[in-house]
Amino acid sequence: MAAENYQADIHNSDYEAEYRAKKLDARGSINIDGRKLESLNGLWNFAPDLYDSCRRARWWSACQGAEKKAPGMNKPESSAETRMALSCKPVLGSPPEDWDFEAWETMPVPSCWNMERPEYLYFEATGIYTRTFHYHSQKKDERAFLFFEGASYTASVFLNGEYLGSHWGASTPFCVEITGSVQEFNRIIVTVDARRSPVRIPMDNTDWFNYGGLYRNVCLLRTGPSFIKDWFIRLVNGVEIRADISIEGDAAGLELEIPELNIREKLPVLDGKASLTLKTSPRLWSPENPKLYDFTLNLAESNGEDGAGGRIEDRIGFREICTRGEEIFLNGKKIFLKGICVHEDHFKLGKTTSEDIIRETIRDLRELKGNYLRLAHYPHDRRFSRIASEEGVLLWEEVPVYWAVAFDNPETREDAENQLAELVIRDRNQAAVIIWSVGNENADTDSRLTFMSGLAEKARSLDDSRLISAACLINHEKLMIQDRLGENLDIIGINEYYGWYDPDFEKLPKILNNSKPGKPVVICEFGAGARLGQRGTVDDLFTEDRQKRIYEQQTETFKTCAYIAGTSPWILYDFRCPRRLNRYQEGFNRKGLIDADRKSRKPAFYVMREFYEKMQEP
Ligand code: GCU
Repeated sequence: MAAENYQADIHNSDYEAEYRAKKLDARGSINIDGRKLESLNGLWNFAPDLYDSCRRARWWSACQGAEKKAPGMNKPESSAETRMALSCKPVLGSPPEDWDFEAWETMPVPSCWNMERPEYLYFEATGIYTRTFHYHSQKKDERAFLFFEGASYTASVFLNGEYLGSHWGASTPFCVEITGSVQEFNRIIVTVDARRSPVRIPMDNTDWFNYGGLYRNVCLLRTGPSFIKDWFIRLVNGVEIRADISIEGDAAGLELEIPELNIREKLPVLDGKASLTLKTSPRLWSPENPKLYDFTLNLAESNGEDGAGGRIEDRIGFREICTRGEEIFLNGKKIFLKGICVHEDHFKLGKTTSEDIIRETIRDLRELKGNYLRLAHYPHDRRFSRIASEEGVLLWEEVPVYWAVAFDNPETREDAENQLAELVIRDRNQAAVIIWSVGNENADTDSRLTFMSGLAEKARSLDDSRLISAACLINHEKLMIQDRLGENLDIIGINEYYGWYDPDFEKLPKILNNSKPGKPVVICEFGAGARLGQRGTVDDLFTEDRQKRIYEQQTETFKTCAYIAGTSPWILYDFRCPRRLNRYQEGFNRKGLIDADRKSRKPAFYVMREFYEKMQEP
């Protein structure tokens, strides 16, 4: 039904109810590793939709696929006719429409609209993306899915005039089956609403830039009637490989093969599940030796077909991470996490990233003599953990339960738990990931304790092989590490800025001496701001001299504390941040050891490098 342009919606005060009713979430998660994907990236038509009119006035409902619109469209007409039919040109007798998909500007997918046109830098409303695409099924009973790797923040997906569902969360993947809706000629519309809100995850006040858009890949995934949905393969008890696989559709059996370990096991499938526990002795993955094994998963029904979800080919690393007392052990050997924090923020691309940028970040970590990264404060691009697993970099991954979250709001908790599940399902086969973090610097209340201990439990239920942490609290009156949440964590993360936000540096050694955490502590943030090239005395704020002095004091103090099992200073690169508005910051947080240009090192970089370089192996 064509939208009753502005007749129906101007009195509809709760137009969003329709969209809230259909959630795309972790229940539908598909692991896309090891599959053939068809990219829908490229130039989409785009319009800024400040009043959310496409969803409010249901513009999307007017755009049927070509067959429904013009019977003559069944053969591949000239693109002009196809475009005309799909562009929903106003038909005589219908009301004048306010959309004009084919006439709109184009926007690259993936990209952050903030970085594509100057007038969109601070645009925090809804963007409408649309394009057409052809689809021809390749196999009998083929199933088809649209897969989105990241849309910030709320994405609503429409295909050929049908509302398919909405996803909440800026940094985790989601997908939707289109088998029943896809035609030969299709129009897809995606509205992406970047508005911040006090009741979502993250809430509306953060210390990073709110980029918007379809900023990660969009692709089409084809499967057979039955397919492998997701899997979790890991080392348990040091000598056993455990595999848990989820299968969609009917399937009698599944085969797991790891040729280099002479493993070829047939697994029965019961109620869509298959699992295996097998004694073996793989070469263990570590930063020094990031050994990955080729493996395949084969549905018996798939007769080895490639890419349709009946056969998965990927690589996996086996390692074990655990804690004992106040120490962290990797494969039974005590380790110190020599790290640094990074945001997903690029001076040209915003939150959109690339393999080159990820590898450049790892090169800079290597120059710092580090082995570990805290991917703050939200799930980074899926390629990061895959490249880190190849390169031997340890990772802390985190959901953006950041600062003053609405901990007593059930929908907020549902949002947080869903984003955590989408992250864990996406990355739990990546050896590089050793820590799931359930949040950062949250005031201690009963509802926060319930909310975040619930997240810790959820993470463990999805993944029994990793450590759980969060950036916890210091009791600044008693000068000690004290946070009720700590009882639910394996590692206590601590953000502290002594020498910067609190100029009395002497509090730090007192706090460390007063505290008896009983489990490993990672100083997951410390540091100071400095504008590149700003010189002065060690007492002058925002000078490289003050930043360097604080790093010297911090690293000297860490050496005296046995229960510090890792450090990740804040932060590797200066990053865009609308709250940072003094003459030294100019819209950037300047705590980076490297300028936002991702090239120019500040003197404190070399203090941190020396600390890691001279550290005795634990
Ligand atoms: C906080 C917070 C960071 C923030 C940093 C800062 O600890 O976790 O997200 O950017 O401090 O103040 O620079």
